[in-house]
Amino acid sequence: MQIPELQLIAAAADADGALLLPVLAGDEPALLAADDYGLTAERLRRLDATGKAGRATRVLVGDGDEERTALLIGVGDERDAESLRRAGGVAARALGADTAAVLDLGAAAAEELEAFATGFALGAHKLDRYVTNDSEDDDEPAGERALSLIGEGDEAAAAVERAGVLAEAVCLARDLANTPSNDLVPEDFAQIAVERAEALGIEVEVWDEPRLADEGCGGLIGVGQGSANPPRLVRLSWSPAEAADAPHVALVGKGITFDTGGLSLKPPASMVGMKFDMSGAASVLASITAIARLGIPVRVSGWLCLAENMPSAHSIKPDDVLRMRGGTTVEVTNTDAEGRLVLADGLVLASEAKPDVIIDIATLTGAAIIALGNRTTGVMGNEETWRERVLAAAGTTGEAMWSMPIPEEIADRLDSNVADLVNAKPGDRAAGMLFAAAFLERFVGDDDRGEPIPWVHLDIAGPADNGGGAHGYTPKGATGVPVRTLVETVAALAR
Ligand code: BES
Ligand code: ZN
Ligand code: ZN
Repeated sequence: MQIPELQLIAAAADADGALLLPVLAGDEPALLAADDYGLTAERLRRLDATGKAGRATRVLVGDGDEERTALLIGVGDERDAESLRRAGGVAARALGADTAAVLDLGAAAAEELEAFATGFALGAHKLDRYVTNDSEDDDEPAGERALSLIGEGDEAAAAVERAGVLAEAVCLARDLANTPSNDLVPEDFAQIAVERAEALGIEVEVWDEPRLADEGCGGLIGVGQGSANPPRLVRLSWSPAEAADAPHVALVGKGITFDTGGLSLKPPASMVGMKFDMSGAASVLASITAIARLGIPVRVSGWLCLAENMPSAHSIKPDDVLRMRGGTTVEVTNTDAEGRLVLADGLVLASEAKPDVIIDIATLTGAAIIALGNRTTGVMGNEETWRERVLAAAGTTGEAMWSMPIPEEIADRLDSNVADLVNAKPGDRAAGMLFAAAFLERFVGDDDRGEPIPWVHLDIAGPADNGGGAHGYTPKGATGVPVRTLVETVAALAR
């Protein structure tokens, strides 16, 4: 789906559409707009437009020919970027059938316009490709939209443009993740990656099954071999000339286009939603497209580990041993712990280029949801500097993340009687998210000095999809987390 058109205008009269008027809560509700539109604190109170976050109140302002629909959008108690982003999302949903809107945020900073515009574009998004009879309701906006923001200057214009680029990237990740697996097998995903990359001058290469076998990628081959739709590995590289001396960030994404669990079959209820199991790879592709479009002078490589995890006569079986890229052998004790198998190859491949950091993104464990719930990404890794950079970026973007340890005693549980490692410890469900991270850590290579390459692991099993109702700028279904944080982490390196 297209994102709304975003543009900067000088005055409310310069564009059609409903006025969006953010209201700050507090002792007295306060309109943040340049004009008061006759909306005194007293009138706001009578309208029950208290500024409460999430609230949208429709009123008419002006008289006669000047009369215009306005939406009073609650911002909550704090005027910060995240509150404005959420207000933008609420506004987009509350607009209903109206297609155009004008934001009056008074004397707003460029970042504030960017925040509202980003939230608006993200809140307006939904997957309508499969809906034949698109009924209107408050939760599900439809139609082409446009947002004009009152503001001026190059900085504001650049901020609004950036909002559009970021929103488009997030929506690309969402559209991919929302696409059911009958329309998105590894080959389809790889094809889309090639098209997107080529359009932006991003180098791209796809490895098919024979090539993966030649290259020793036993994880991708093993997980993919049970499916009629063979696995793929996509390598992306954004390396602008001016970034020759800039840091090199490698992004590795779990791209299981559907996770049945394989022969360790998931029960029916747990299988629903497993089309989202490629959200990590989608976020990697989407982030790189945004980084390229923004022209950020940092080197970024992306590794999409794509496979479909199916039970069949060809599937890997419990007790099988796989030889991963680089030679490490893994005893498969549970074929449903497949994400770590495909990521093992991806991490080894990413390490071979000796990047300054590897960040992997994966809907890796149900345990992440048990530990952190449905909205927070678990952040693990092997050193502090880069982990803090990612967490700082998440603080800027408003994507919830929380640091988790990889306790040393977990490593003992990786021991296998027949191979180097097991992929899961049967009967031991303690700290499943941390166990998975400890497994991945074994595939992170060393730098030129023989030190482990800095590595950050993001378990997005919770926040990748929103199974509840729409809120703020987050619609139902795929969320596009953590695209904005990945882009911000990279952008911060160039400042
Ligand atoms: N894709 C799942 C993790 C998942 C579960 C993501 C729920 C989103 C929502 C992953 O491949 C998986 O099945 N993990 C197993 C690992 C276990 C077998 C060691 C899990 O978490 O149960
Ligand atoms: Zn699984
Ligand atoms: Zn999975």
